[in-house]
Amino acid sequence: MFEPQYRDVITNLATPAYVFDIDVLQERIKFIQDMLGDNIQLCYAMKANPFVIQSIEGIINRYEVCSHGEFAICERANIPMEKVVLSGVYKNADELLRVMATYRDCLVYTSESVHQFEMIHEIAKQLDCQVSTLLRITTGNQFGMSEEELCHLIASRKQYPYVDIVGIQHFSGTQRKKLNLYEQELKYVDTLLQRLEKEYGYVAKELEFGPGFYVEYFHGSKAYDEVELLKGFKELLGSLHFQGQIILELGRFIAANCGRYYTEIVDYKINQVPYCIVDGGMHQMTYYGQMMAMKIPYYRQLKKEQGNGQIVHCHVSGSLCTMNDNLVKSLPLENPQIGDVLEFQRVGAYAMCEGISLFLSRDLPSIYLYSKQDGLCLQRSRFETNIFNYKGE
Ligand SMILES: Cc1ncc(COP(=O)(O)O)c(C=O)c1O
Repeated sequence: MFEPQYRDVITNLATPAYVFDIDVLQERIKFIQDMLGDNIQLCYAMKANPFVIQSIEGIINRYEVCSHGEFAICERANIPMEKVVLSGVYKNADELLRVMATYRDCLVYTSESVHQFEMIHEIAKQLDCQVSTLLRITTGNQFGMSEEELCHLIASRKQYPYVDIVGIQHFSGTQRKKLNLYEQELKYVDTLLQRLEKEYGYVAKELEFGPGFYVEYFHGSKAYDEVELLKGFKELLGSLHFQGQIILELGRFIAANCGRYYTEIVDYKINQVPYCIVDGGMHQMTYYGQMMAMKIPYYRQLKKEQGNGQIVHCHVSGSLCTMNDNLVKSLPLENPQIGDVLEFQRVGAYAMCEGISLFLSRDLPSIYLYSKQDGLCLQRSRFETNIFNYKGE
């Protein structure tokens, strides 16, 4: 039932647990890089999966880091600061001062507003260093700044000698697969960059662009060819006037495939329909686009004992006290039994971090990294959350 390399590994795994396959992850990055060509740099949006950042350091150009918590993870993982882009809609002045005083101009700081830009400039001035910044252009939401503000900063850049505006950052959303959307957005930034050159004599060195590439999570989704998408996207990049460095910010598209979540059936009952209660739940695993547990994600069933071939369609419910804690409805399982383990796939991005982890004071699941060479390595032990929910005397 399991691929040979997983069979030994999984039998000893205490559930619920996540396994991130580093071989799969590294192959994925190489595939994306091969498809896009070496002149395109890849920036890993680490919010997708912070557990794997160290394992890809040798093959990724940059990390997009969106909070000081993520930054602290980079420090612990010894990520070279030259690879860090400190992004985020809220940057705290004290934390920024600490980072800049320690690492100075090693990293790139994004400016999501005029206020942020001025704050970065002020702190750099205080420390007497010049730091690089990317101006984030808004796509009509709370992120980034308006085109007018961006142009104004470019026009008055000489008044800000402690920041070097290296280029523009653009991200508009995730799970996107229509080439014409990318085309529109790339045209927009390309035109903007041309305008900055023509009107203000400003030539950007970098364009950091987040395409939000799509990942297929469910059986029965409309057919979609990611190789075609990448080919089309590469052509679009080739048609830009912009001649500087293009850096693609990607999270989901890089990390989703490497993750598997294991949860054991701990109870089985028929309340009008068959229910499998599992030891995990919605607080530990979420799929983008899942709708009331109706869609069937990619999964496998690890039988505790030999199956009898009889298929039962079960509702798989988690261990929280809420009727919403349904992972999947009507999941075909072979004579499901207590002790069988369900493996949910393509959960290497976001799924492990987006849950309502503190509800019901359940423990956080353990996290393992797996590779053929090193086998299964524990990254995070099972972790009690009840201590967050009542301090005690
Ligand atoms: C600024 C920015 N860049 C990149 C990403 C990664 O998006 P995705 O996981 O769709 O690749 C995000 C996700 O929220 C983001 O906010």
